[in-house]
Amino acid sequence: MTAVAEPRTQPPVRPGRAWWRRPWIIPMGAVIVAFLVYSIPPYLGLDPALSRVPEGSSIYYPALLAHIGFGAVAMVSGFCQVWPWFRKRHRAAHRVLGRVYVFAGVLPSATAGLIVGAMSPFGPVGRVSLVLLASIWFGSTITGYVKARRRSFAEHRVWMIRSYTLTLSTITNRIWGPVASIVLTPHLDTMFGGSEIALLYSVAGITNWLGWVVPLLAVELWLQRKRVRAR
Ligand code: HEM
Repeated sequence: MTAVAEPRTQPPVRPGRAWWRRPWIIPMGAVIVAFLVYSIPPYLGLDPALSRVPEGSSIYYPALLAHIGFGAVAMVSGFCQVWPWFRKRHRAAHRVLGRVYVFAGVLPSATAGLIVGAMSPFGPVGRVSLVLLASIWFGSTITGYVKARRRSFAEHRVWMIRSYTLTLSTITNRIWGPVASIVLTPHLDTMFGGSEIALLYSVAGITNWLGWVVPLLAVELWLQRKRVRAR
């Protein structure tokens, strides 16, 4: 991941394009709202029986709740951060929300995500992916924060784009499960010897890996193209 040559002062405030001329903002906001409205309610009553994930030990459910709560903060605060119009018009809010994103969003959610990831009931392949994802999520966010503190704003931007891509990867993650399930279930007897647990672990493994690797690769390609064009 190459460093980008840059001025060490904050770029001047230029009038941004109107929000409606950024065609990705509305769909992105709508997808985030739909995800949160669908995902969060079962956890609001703090009732483990309503959890979509079967719990293993006594620490699992509190860690899952912390992960989800802080994850929602990261998702919403990060949305304002990547929205160019908001970033340009509300510099002070950008700085405050940036700290909220890092310290009340990603870092606590990723720490809890490490615990629930390592204890995931969906098999070892998925666990490895989740632990790696939580670590990279944590690492890219800290790096982005440190770059901002050192006033390396171009690098700060690139690391925060990586970080927020990983934040949103929990949404794309939900797409792969049904796809893998539809493709693999007809092969239960032939490919998995009739073992439903082997099928479940395979679907979860594929889902967890593709969920974050595909968006991260896509965003790296996009960043690479922008660098080439800038040259
Ligand atoms: C990007 C790093 C993330 C990691 C490593 C991660 C990890 C996990 C893990 C391990 C679980 C338990 C299910 C399983 O074992 O497969 C889980 C569940 C969940 N996570 Fe995350 N997560 C991440 C990001 C987020 C974000 C940003 C949110 C936003 C709210 C979120 C919301 C949820 C929800 C709602 C559940 C419960 C499952 C459900 O009800 O569908 N996650 N996550």
